[in-house]
Amino acid sequence: MNKSKIPSPFNPEEFRKEGHKLVDTLADYLGDALSGKEIPVLPSNDPERLAQMFSFESGGGENEPLNDFLKRVISGSNHLHHPHYIGHQVTSPLPVAVLAQFCTTLLNNGAAIYEMGPVNMALEKNVVNRFGAIIGYSGKYDGIFTHGGTAGNLTAMLAARQVKTDYNIWEEGVKDNRRPGYMISEQAHYSVGRNVKIMGLGYESTIKVPVDSHFRMRTDLLEEIKNEAEKRGIKVISVIASSCSTATGSYDDLQTIADFCEKHNLWMHVDGAHGMGVLFSDKYKGLISGIERADSVVIDFHKMLLVPALNTLVMFRDGEKSFETFAQKASYLFQKSQDNVWYNSAIRTIECTKSALGIIAYTALKYYGNSYYREYIDSRYDLARSLATIIKSDSQLELTVEPESNIVCLRFAPEGYNELILNQINSVIRAKIVMEGSFYIVQTELDGKIWIRLTIINPVTSEDDLKDLLLKIKKIGNSEIS
Ligand SMILES: Cc1ncc(COP(=O)(O)O)c(C=O)c1O
Repeated sequence: MNKSKIPSPFNPEEFRKEGHKLVDTLADYLGDALSGKEIPVLPSNDPERLAQMFSFESGGGENEPLNDFLKRVISGSNHLHHPHYIGHQVTSPLPVAVLAQFCTTLLNNGAAIYEMGPVNMALEKNVVNRFGAIIGYSGKYDGIFTHGGTAGNLTAMLAARQVKTDYNIWEEGVKDNRRPGYMISEQAHYSVGRNVKIMGLGYESTIKVPVDSHFRMRTDLLEEIKNEAEKRGIKVISVIASSCSTATGSYDDLQTIADFCEKHNLWMHVDGAHGMGVLFSDKYKGLISGIERADSVVIDFHKMLLVPALNTLVMFRDGEKSFETFAQKASYLFQKSQDNVWYNSAIRTIECTKSALGIIAYTALKYYGNSYYREYIDSRYDLARSLATIIKSDSQLELTVEPESNIVCLRFAPEGYNELILNQINSVIRAKIVMEGSFYIVQTELDGKIWIRLTIINPVTSEDDLKDLLLKIKKIGNSEIS
């Protein structure tokens, strides 16, 4: 008898059978979630209880059919495709990108070096070229993928530090009285300030610039704040702009920041993790006027470009600079003659092995990058503006600021209540709505006030969904004050 050499866990027929079942399960789930069926957006489960529910013995342990187990995983999860998911900036991914990721997961071509992910590297290159063109870079731009915007920002910030320091800081470390500093908006994502600390630079190297009434960086203060930092012994090397900010979705003024950086020979980094989707929108691209002047830009595909997390592109205006970031050599990986080549990604990233991020991003761009992205971005940004109009017309509701992106902050604020009470009420409103599972929304604090924060990221969320949410906010708010 001819005995198969394939160990049973790798049985291709079993994989086919289970794979088909899983795709059927997921397709049914996708239909239900997108239709807004009466399922809780985030099923309410205490973390300890959930850990118990998923003990190794649960569901019959190893005898539980895989599809039953995965159905339990699905039902306990936060349903990002549900039209009432209006929470954090993580997208409901495009099915084609999910299928591409399913494929790349089996191939497991971790793209640290070309030989371990040849197709990925080729597709990364093409995605980089497409973005270079739409950003408006000319010359020798380049880019690389990282796992997430936090890692992407760190990669760009390390490049800035290496390029703008007048000695080899990567090898020699930080020297007394020559501590590099990054000017960032008070509203910058926390990863930016944290990255400064990860680099071992300490809190003084994060030079915070206040924001205006629209939560945009106060560019009129840049000169003064730089001078003050330098008096404290900090060598300012970079300005980090937000396009857009996390809390309110505000876009910093890139042209003015670019002028300032050019004047003082500083590295201009743009954290466009959330807001770079406007690159595809004729209507909203003006929000990032000047982007082609940035030395580096971070773009999260898993936010406004509809790709599964994590998937981030870091673009460099001068591609050569990205090779200076990590000066160390891993000689067992890179042959000498291949040192500075684009197709060995690990030379330029924090990570060694990575997922095939380029293939997944490329798939989304290939099928939807020419028209759907534009339609998607425009409709989400338009909807945020319509919602703001409705909020402003309601005397019990308050809008933080006119939305520039698809992020809207509001609160229940009837007249006659002090800030402390309003803060408590708005926290209770958000907690109750999330707990009952009718919507998934988040909250943020700005100037000591608690705001309900919405990111209209899901392509099927409609104005009616948002009106239902406002009614719910007011219903709970009024019952709290009565
Ligand atoms: C502006 C901005 N930058 C960076 C990040 C961090 O991105 P990631 O979660 O991909 O690490 C976020 C996340 O929300 C963000 O909003």
